[in-house]
Amino acid sequence: MSRDGAAPGRFIALEGGEGAGKSTQGALLAEALRQRGLEVVSTREPGGTPGAEAIRALLLGTDGEGWGPRAEALLFAAARADHVDRLIRPALAAGRWVVCDRYVDSSRAYQGGGGGLSDADILALHAIGSEGLLPDMTLLIEVSPNVAAARLARRDAGGADRIGGREAAYHARVAAAFARFAEADPSRFARIAGDGAPEAIHAQILAALAPLLP
Ligand code: TYD
Repeated sequence: MSRDGAAPGRFIALEGGEGAGKSTQGALLAEALRQRGLEVVSTREPGGTPGAEAIRALLLGTDGEGWGPRAEALLFAAARADHVDRLIRPALAAGRWVVCDRYVDSSRAYQGGGGGLSDADILALHAIGSEGLLPDMTLLIEVSPNVAAARLARRDAGGADRIGGREAAYHARVAAAFARFAEADPSRFARIAGDGAPEAIHAQILAALAPLLP
């Protein structure tokens, strides 16, 4: 319950591979929710709090030799723990909607599907770090590889980050893992076809969220 006894806020996560259009859709969604009179907190992972943003710099910077898959998974879980504790849970308790660009399903897909850790291990880290908090709805934006590549060529003209720059086979495993998670849990996931125009994708997202909207 929120402070004044009104409905608690809702937690919406946007997920997908590189170049899926999550940030564009997150901004459109936050605006649409505000137009309905809801208070919205837009945030992202890794990051969202000063501590988690500091961990983000450690994770995505391209200096040095980088992290092994286990250290990487622990760092993402630590960043998420701070984000959940200091930003996401307080916002939900205050009745705000949280729109988060990536969340634990990214760890399951990248460090699990891409990096080879088991899903059980990623979920164990999430249980320890964030008491297993899951979104009310996870919007998985799926794009075909050629559309993603064209968007990334525009976005990453100056060079990709450490994880975005991994080989195509890694990103193919990530996409397959996301699809498996969505298939296994259709009540939490909505699969959004992301190849079209931003307005058409936004309309799919609003339709998927209709049951949650006040
Ligand atoms: P970001 O610049 O936010 O990428 P994008 O615009 O594609 O969301 O960088 C986040 C990168 O971190 C991205 O490559 C996905 C990766 N990532 C993980 O590997 N595990 C995680 O748990 C999260 C949250 C992100």
